Amino acid sequence: MLRALLLAPPGAGKGTQGERISEAAGVPHIATGDLLRTHVAQDTELGRTAREFMQRGELVPDSLVLELVYGTLAEPKPRRGFVLDGFPRTLAQAEGAFSWAKRVSRTFHAVITLDVPQPELVRRLLERGRSEGRDDDTEDTICHRLDVYESETQPLLEFYRARDILVPVDGTGTVDEVTDRIMTALGPLAPFV
Ligand code: AP5
Ligand code: MG
Repeated sequence: MLRALLLAPPGAGKGTQGERISEAAGVPHIATGDLLRTHVAQDTELGRTAREFMQRGELVPDSLVLELVYGTLAEPKPRRGFVLDGFPRTLAQAEGAFSWAKRVSRTFHAVITLDVPQPELVRRLLERGRSEGRDDDTEDTICHRLDVYESETQPLLEFYRARDILVPVDGTGTVDEVTDRIMTALGPLAPFV
């Protein structure tokens, strides 16, 4: 049982590490960016609204994201735990998530943040843009996503530090090295199976 959140800038490795933690802990990896991209690909009403925000590197409005996340968390599988990636991303989302979690007795155990210097973030995202062609991995949009992270999401670190559940991890080095650091930092919470 692990209820964890990955809170880190674009390119820090939330998706990469989220998959690994989820596998080790046997709980689903729930990434709001992936859920939104699926809606965009399926051209749903939500996808049509989200597309423009995502292409510009802006955040999708809180009300839409909250609806999407609560719908997913209400499914049977996440009841055993989850690794959330990319949510909450604004103070309003964090407050909304906290009151939901208290109401259903599912508050987070750990909020993992990955520290990676900005030039390395940009390098990784440009590389992914070249290899995978993700719409928002262009130089201008990457810069904007990093600015949005700094102004909207970074303040949440303090919110979780104050609740004493923030787990800072060095996100540089190989993927395996980062996974090992996360497992060590999680200590008794680590999903060693
Ligand atoms: P989202 O999909 O969450 O994108 P992001 O936060 O910009 O983060 P990324 O997915 O780009 O990076 P990551 O940290 O997952 O790193 P990854 O493991 O992929 O959000 C996209 C958009 O959706 C937002 O801009 C917004 O519009 C909307 N959205 C999503 N959630 C929202 C919310 N809650 N509220 C409002 N709007 C929301 O790694 C990156 C690359 O680096 C990969 O190629 C990977 O292979 C490589 N890599 C990973 N680790 C390493 C390593 N150790 N060494 C070298 N390379 C590595
Ligand atoms: Mg991601």
